[in-house]
Amino acid sequence: MCGIVGYIGDKNAQSFLISGLKRLEYRGYDSAGIATLSEKGKATLIRAKGKIANLEEKVAKNKRSDTTGIGHTRWATHGEPSEKNAHPHKAGSIYLVHNGIIENYKAIKEHLKDHEFKSDTDTEVLAALINSFYSDGKHSLADAVVQALKLAKGTYGIAVISENNPDEIIVARSGSPLVIGVGNGETLIASDASALVGHTKNAIYLKDGEIARVTKDSIEVKTLNSEPVSAKVEEIETNLAAIQKGGYDHFLLKEIMEQPDSLAETLRGRIDAKNGTVTLGGPGLSESELRRISHLVIVGCGTAYYAGVLAGYYIEQFTPGITIEPVIASEYRYKQSYLPENSLALIVSQSGETADTLACLREIKKQGIKTIGIVNAIGSTIAREVDGGTYVHVGPEISVASTKAFTSQVIAMVMFGITMAQAKGVKNTILRPYINEIAKLPTEIKKVLDGSADQIKKITKKYTKYEHGIYLGRDVAYPTAMEGALKMKEISYLDANAYAFGELKHGPLALVDDRFFEVAILPKGHLYDKAISNVQEVLARGGHMVVFTNEDSFDLPVENVVKITTQLEIFAPILMNILSQLFAYNMAVAKGNNVDQPRNLAKSVTVE
Ligand code: AGP
Repeated sequence: MCGIVGYIGDKNAQSFLISGLKRLEYRGYDSAGIATLSEKGKATLIRAKGKIANLEEKVAKNKRSDTTGIGHTRWATHGEPSEKNAHPHKAGSIYLVHNGIIENYKAIKEHLKDHEFKSDTDTEVLAALINSFYSDGKHSLADAVVQALKLAKGTYGIAVISENNPDEIIVARSGSPLVIGVGNGETLIASDASALVGHTKNAIYLKDGEIARVTKDSIEVKTLNSEPVSAKVEEIETNLAAIQKGGYDHFLLKEIMEQPDSLAETLRGRIDAKNGTVTLGGPGLSESELRRISHLVIVGCGTAYYAGVLAGYYIEQFTPGITIEPVIASEYRYKQSYLPENSLALIVSQSGETADTLACLREIKKQGIKTIGIVNAIGSTIAREVDGGTYVHVGPEISVASTKAFTSQVIAMVMFGITMAQAKGVKNTILRPYINEIAKLPTEIKKVLDGSADQIKKITKKYTKYEHGIYLGRDVAYPTAMEGALKMKEISYLDANAYAFGELKHGPLALVDDRFFEVAILPKGHLYDKAISNVQEVLARGGHMVVFTNEDSFDLPVENVVKITTQLEIFAPILMNILSQLFAYNMAVAKGNNVDQPRNLAKSVTVE
């Protein structure tokens, strides 16, 4: 996620901004920048692509004794990583840094003909909008920001300065955190308190819909409707590591717990449950191109592959007549397989840099097949080489084990499938249940996290003695079992493997003994009863089974059952995968493993 810092006081702004941005590096970014104002209001804007060290090098050649400034580390959402897209963005006399996404930036941009746009970002549009109110001299900077924010739709955490008045910084937030550090003769701004540690212990956490005008010795907070707010000064956490993990013990747990928000970002501006529509701008395929698709190949590695398998099951349910082929990239790249004429390839990758996946992309493009990226890292190699794409927008996934990206990859692919089905004339009565459930998924995930995290932690203790695990499921629960087994093996180093329930009799049943525990993914549905008989087969052989289910009537004598109460039927397996994530996390912690950097693994496998 992007990072924001700001400083106004008597010390050197450039040095606070650079050190503050370094504190925020852990959040992941692809470019950075600062803007400072001299006492007379002369602005110095310095930006750089890549690491903060690149920015630091430029600042060293452009030292200023300015005492007011703002800074930003950018995790690209609109516009690829580059110096021109880096923040702060300038419009007239103002400079702006922004975290979040302005959904209606294109519509706003249409009305800002006087501004010569230099970047591809939504942020520059917001800067120009603020300036359109400020430049007429009839509004204070704070008022101009208020007028602009009333027109902007989406999420923001912003800091704004103007050459006309170096003695103030305006900050505002809606959906993206902002903290105001209360110093002694100085005021500090940050998107998270880690940048304030060592400078002050007292801070005001701005709330959604609030705006503040800060000077070096005053902080005035109001609502966007100009109602004064008596903001509470709180003591900040001084443990840097704790702040950077959002207060969680590990990035992995933070990323599991933030899935309601990260999935909401994936859906933002793309799904309209009220009207039953899904709109994806990125793939850039016409209705006729979508209608012509007869074969979908879905390429990925590891979790990205399992996301493709699961999404493929769902897309097949509502798009009759097309064939779907999820493939493991490292296998597919060497196969002499030729894709039929009306094929389309979905290229799935969180990092957008996985070597095998990238190699497949290039092979498939040689066959003249269109490629659509399902990627998280904006501007990554895969994102730049596909013909079109849908970013999943989950923010940096720092832990090696992929969790929030998996959930959003599956749903992004299902949303793509829905746009394809809509183009093929599939009735809305068939698609509506999927759309309705997708819209509810963030809330349902939150309920599972709130309701089952403690139970999973408790049952994990009983399974730490095992070295082998079997994950089982039928239909959509089978790829869910695959992903659950990968999470377990990846971070707990336990030999966990997934099998289709129906395969048990063809071999895996021979494994069942006291060395193994079993996890059964058991969603309600047309195959539930069949799966129940498979559970009984395992129990009859002394299985040590944990069941994840949304069927309240489940009552077989398994060792542990985690029941989730959810309105969802179709996407219940996504919720059960959350349980698998928590199970694997707790097992890894119990084993004392390095949860975020498991042995032998890397976050992005950029070599074969
Ligand atoms: C998943 O937890 C692993 N980290 C790994 O399987 C990963 O999904 C795989 O390497 C693909 O990475 P990508 O999504 O960045 O391409």
